[in-house]
Amino acid sequence: MCGIVGYVGRHRAGNLMLDGLKRLEYRGYDSSGMAVLTANGLDLVKRTGRVKNLEEALTESQLGGSLGISHTRWATHGDVTEANAHPHLSSDGKIALVHNGVIENYLGMKKFLVGKGYSFRSETDSEALANLIAYHYAKEPEESGKNRFLESVRKSLQHVEGTYGIAVICTDAPDELIGARKGSPLIIGIGKGENLIASDVNAITHCTQNVVYLNDNEVVHLHNDDFSITTVSSKNVEAVIHQVDWDTTEAELGDYHHFMEKEIFEQPTALENGMRGRFSDDSSTAVFGGLNLSPQELRHVDRILFLACGTAWHACLVAEYLIERYARIPVEVEYASEFRYRNAPLDKNTLVFAISQSGETIDTLAALREAKRKGYRTLSINNSVGSTIARECDGGIYQHAGPEIGVASTKAFTSQIMLCAMVALYLGRLRDLSYGDGVDIVKALKQLPELIRDVLGQSDKVAAIAKQYASYEDCLFLGRQLMFPIALEGALKLKEISYIHAEGYPAAEMKHGPIALISEKCPSVFLATSGEIFQKSLANIQEVKARKGKVICIATEECDIPEDLIDDLILVPECHEIIKPILMSIPVQLFSYYVALERGCDVDKPRNLAKSVTVE
Ligand code: F6R
Repeated sequence: MCGIVGYVGRHRAGNLMLDGLKRLEYRGYDSSGMAVLTANGLDLVKRTGRVKNLEEALTESQLGGSLGISHTRWATHGDVTEANAHPHLSSDGKIALVHNGVIENYLGMKKFLVGKGYSFRSETDSEALANLIAYHYAKEPEESGKNRFLESVRKSLQHVEGTYGIAVICTDAPDELIGARKGSPLIIGIGKGENLIASDVNAITHCTQNVVYLNDNEVVHLHNDDFSITTVSSKNVEAVIHQVDWDTTEAELGDYHHFMEKEIFEQPTALENGMRGRFSDDSSTAVFGGLNLSPQELRHVDRILFLACGTAWHACLVAEYLIERYARIPVEVEYASEFRYRNAPLDKNTLVFAISQSGETIDTLAALREAKRKGYRTLSINNSVGSTIARECDGGIYQHAGPEIGVASTKAFTSQIMLCAMVALYLGRLRDLSYGDGVDIVKALKQLPELIRDVLGQSDKVAAIAKQYASYEDCLFLGRQLMFPIALEGALKLKEISYIHAEGYPAAEMKHGPIALISEKCPSVFLATSGEIFQKSLANIQEVKARKGKVICIATEECDIPEDLIDDLILVPECHEIIKPILMSIPVQLFSYYVALERGCDVDKPRNLAKSVTVE
């Protein structure tokens, strides 16, 4: 949520930052801006709308400076206006700052600074920090022997309540870039004769693969050729440089029209990468390298608590079914945002699992910290190597699904479910799951990529069906048992990218209220799988049909569905129960994607949303 790129070096900062901003646009896209120090002083350009608007406004000289900061915004305080876009300048014109996060005590700060003669142009909390740094800078004695700019940033941060990831420059310091973080991700890119700051690895891999992940309460001071890290209270910190193993082409669109489309079609490979090397030699269980818990310790776990938000929370609901069924361990699933403020009593043998694609979602991170504070073992499943959640957990599993750029999560969701299925298998085999059952599950998981390819082969058919339903304004997604979380996910996908009001329900719950919504104006997407509850699902379809509701049925091949009961049918291959939630998700994703396309929506950048929610 909001993206930051800063540069100090010998090259054209503007060009490099612009490339970075384009890669970060999915983090926020209501406005963007850039401040570059040029021969003529500090040059500031801001535009509302997409990064291309900023690009059109930048001049040769602005692009040419070799120190700068830039930002792409997702509004928290204040409307979407040029004045509210970042960077923000201090009123004396000396300090420029970009900020992600929320400064909770900014009103008090503002009052104090106005009293000291500083003025404000925007409605943002961030501008208060720019002015506070300028205030401390003006007060810092020239001859203190300390770096004046750095001291003023540190002093100001000591007064901040809330969260921040910032990049700051000062007109008196033409080769210095300062960054700091608390609760909002920030990384440093170490180049040759140049260094960068960004909120996301993705923004700098075109310049360097060497990165340092900044921790909370740390401040980095960068020059062309060196950098140092201290804490806000001036303690030295030893930097650990990591090499990111990132294929930059993975974050490019290639021949696809949208990242969402690309990511839906990448699922066979994304899942293959996630399972590679993670099965035992006898193919009867899963193996994970990074859990940092021995099989003995895991045998003592008597409850698992999953924490997540949004789509990842839906993946947790699938995990609940699978782990309870195959490993016989009770599971609870909590919205991270709710858990963090509840004083939930947990047993000492509870294992806490956080699921997050980005590894930076603030609510998930805060809930995880709360669980850690209480002394629980924490593990995570996430897709971003080096992310804060991955670093702060006791152990975890990387998804290896490749960068997910589309704001609506697709391949990360199915990869999370697959890894949850593998966790269920692993924990089950540590307990009572038989060798034969384990072998069957491994076989099913290995078949997944091919089966997904089969379903993707029906994309034209799904597109044709989606076209018929694109003009409706309401839609229900209904499913039982393992299909209930997929129904929730289907409703979320449809509403977030096509702005159709959609709700997911357990199909049998219909009778307890939502059935009142059914009419010829509200179609239902039914998710039906073969097996013991198929007849019950059929009965629920009948209930909808009897009330003139249109029915789109997504079903596994062995489901025998009378033709007159449904309007449209999409079949997926019959398969082992454990992989059904994944296969059934594919038509649901395609349906939402094609409906949104038909409605002319901006699929990758839906209104009001941004990838990776780093504010509460
Ligand atoms: C919806 C979507 C969001 C995310 C949620 C959590 O398509 O992508 O609901 O799932 O914001 O994000 P992560 O997984 O990064 O913690």
